[in-house]
Amino acid sequence: MNALQFIETSIEDGIGFIFLNRPKQLNALNRKMISEIVSTMEAFDIDSQVKVILLTGNGKAFSAGADIDEMVNDSPITLELTNQFADWDRINLIRKPIIGAVKSFVFGGGFELALACDFLVAASDTQFSFPEVTLGVMPGAGGTQRLTKLVGKTKALEWILTAERIHVKSALHYGFINKIVAPELLMEEAVDFAQKIAKQPPLAVRLIKESVNKAVDHSLYEGMQFERKNFYLLFASGDQKEGMSAFVEKRKPKFTGG
Ligand code: HXC
Repeated sequence: MNALQFIETSIEDGIGFIFLNRPKQLNALNRKMISEIVSTMEAFDIDSQVKVILLTGNGKAFSAGADIDEMVNDSPITLELTNQFADWDRINLIRKPIIGAVKSFVFGGGFELALACDFLVAASDTQFSFPEVTLGVMPGAGGTQRLTKLVGKTKALEWILTAERIHVKSALHYGFINKIVAPELLMEEAVDFAQKIAKQPPLAVRLIKESVNKAVDHSLYEGMQFERKNFYLLFASGDQKEGMSAFVEKRKPKFTGG
């Protein structure tokens, strides 16, 4: 991987951290930055030291959206040739759980990046918004689709058309964040949340994420057939044998990831 310019990364206690690192621009997302985020997620995905990925922002905000300076002179042809959304699509293929720890502005492409996470822990000062309509454009990295699937058409269309800032309480009420925490405790709470998942048997975590994601795009019948195959597959794992034997033997399981 080339040297990272717009993000910082580290691995600690089973958690792969990604810090958006353009704090002066409120972590506005340029294309190189997205490419760095996705490449790092892919590296973490195949690194056995990492059980869970945690994405957050350095400085005040999570992200004020895609970098407008970079987009201002774009045309349909430059966009087609750049094909920037190919990077975004690769986030869908990450197998390990992704937790977003968000704060302050979570706008536009930043909101789309947050919605691409599996879980969101939000500081109480977080504001979510899709301001694209005020720029004469619209969300382009999945915002119209992901938000609508999560909260339904009524609120999604209202929020995307008005560019209203969505308060965390509303976000929790409509079910697109998992938890509201005090701003000074954001990382502590997000790490705590990550560790709860990191200590589960990794193969089960992986196949559960895959099965739940199937529910978003497939019929109930197809999703249930898929779930069943993954359920069967887990009975080939050492962690299934260990988990169930430990229950029967009334002791704590020791999972190895195999
Ligand atoms: C480029 C940005 C930026 C952005 C902020 N900055 N957001 N630069 N792209 N999206 C820069 C500012 O120009 C400024 O740089 C510095 O960050 C600090 O921002 P301020 O505006 O001074 O801060 P503040 O007054 O606190 O206002 C914060 C804000 C405002 C309300 C978030 O910055 C804002 O409205 N930003 C744009 C939000 C937006 O429209 N996002 C959607 C983008 S479109 P200088 O150099 O002046 O200090 C999008 C489409 C996604 O995301 C499509 C798919 C990828």
